[in-house]
Amino acid sequence: MAKATSHYVCQACGATASKWAGRCETCGEWNTMVEEALPQPVAGGRGSALASARRGLNFVTLDGPVEVVARRTCGIGELDRVLGGGLVPGAAILISGDPGIGKSTLLIQALAALAGHGVDAYYVSGEESVDQVRLRAHRLGLDGSSVRLAADTSVRDIIATLEKLPTDRPAVAVIDSIQTMRHDGLDGAPGTVSQVRACGQELIQLAKRRGIAMIIVGHVTKEGQIAGPRLLEHMVDTVLHFEGERGHAYRILRAVKNRFGATDEIGVFSMTDLGLVEVENPSAIFLGDRDEKVSGSAVFAGLEGTRPVLVEIQALVAASALGTPRRTVVGLDSGRLSMILAVLDARCGLSLGSNDVYLNVAGGLRILEPAADLAIAAALLSSLTDRALPKETVVLGEVGLSGEVRAVSQMEARLKEAAKLGFTRAFVPASGTGRQMPVDIRPLKRLAELVELFVGV
Ligand code: TYD
Ligand code: MG
Repeated sequence: MAKATSHYVCQACGATASKWAGRCETCGEWNTMVEEALPQPVAGGRGSALASARRGLNFVTLDGPVEVVARRTCGIGELDRVLGGGLVPGAAILISGDPGIGKSTLLIQALAALAGHGVDAYYVSGEESVDQVRLRAHRLGLDGSSVRLAADTSVRDIIATLEKLPTDRPAVAVIDSIQTMRHDGLDGAPGTVSQVRACGQELIQLAKRRGIAMIIVGHVTKEGQIAGPRLLEHMVDTVLHFEGERGHAYRILRAVKNRFGATDEIGVFSMTDLGLVEVENPSAIFLGDRDEKVSGSAVFAGLEGTRPVLVEIQALVAASALGTPRRTVVGLDSGRLSMILAVLDARCGLSLGSNDVYLNVAGGLRILEPAADLAIAAALLSSLTDRALPKETVVLGEVGLSGEVRAVSQMEARLKEAAKLGFTRAFVPASGTGRQMPVDIRPLKRLAELVELFVGV
């Protein structure tokens, strides 16, 4: 039988099959199997004569000398924070986000800042022409910067060029975006799984080999998945998501993986005509337009990475005219809302089964912490009873399935931030409140106690 020269690759999960199928057997997605050429065997690969002549490993002990990596700060504090204190030479970083969210703008600003700090900065655009990028740079007032610019999509050419850079100078390169890059050694259109994988691999290897910090841009698909770039997440050192609601002026850069720093760290930016501007005190922004006297609002003392951030959670509970009431959630996990509604029903005797429920995090932040449960419940109860929460109060605590209020991490840090912003009171879990707290606390053991505060006994 002739040797197969192509196979079918699922564009959603990367699974391979020898035959085409309408549905991927691994992830169950429809119409994702695309024919791609099989990689050609490489001389010196497994089984060849060269392979038997390999070197042995040289194991060492743990107590040897350690070379501390010198980080390069970009001068954009929020970006440095998310990176864990600056760029590490040789690091491969994937920045993903919706098209149009501001990735190219952020990166050209970052490169200009780095160039200003004596780093050789290279920007390769596969999406825009040199003129378009220049135009953007002019608009952002960066035309005086020494960033080197090229428009190209051939990874081999890019690598051959970057390979020749002097190694004694720190360098950073941005590849915008991986979906437009093409590897000559492979068939298949740019953006397919095998192209993305091969291009990514070569760029990452170059970064390690030459000590260049490599920033790779990846667009997410409509479903919020980084098809193709998903595979890169495992290969790179750092994965940053750039997120934000389209209508909002705020953008959040979130570290979801970082070999050189903490994850879940966020950087907050506001979008202006002059590009992205860092927001040093996000709590003040997220609480900016709040009206304390209105019902249906609770301030959650959250934690994003190592930084406490206060955000307003808004709820609207209204009588429903529909057979199946509406549940609309923005900025939170809708499963979390369902759970809290179920606990209110089963453990507190309060059913919202015939009400529409809308839930929103003000300012466009996305909250992933279960510690927001109690604040969600407080906003719901406040809207339902049309009674505002006591003034200057923050709420935090996780709600368990049996209706208990569970402890949250770093309560003191969260309450300190609240006190700094003028809050004087807090609804908190009863466990873990032994020490002196920066604000007056109202410890709660069960969710039912919060319900009683609103509806009375
Ligand atoms: P862009 O950086 O091109 O997004 P991406 O690379 O993620 O696709 O930004 C999209 C548009 O928004 C672009 O026309 C410029 C504009 N924009 C601003 O005007 N100000 C800003 O601060 C940002 C981030 C973008
Ligand atoms: Mg772009």
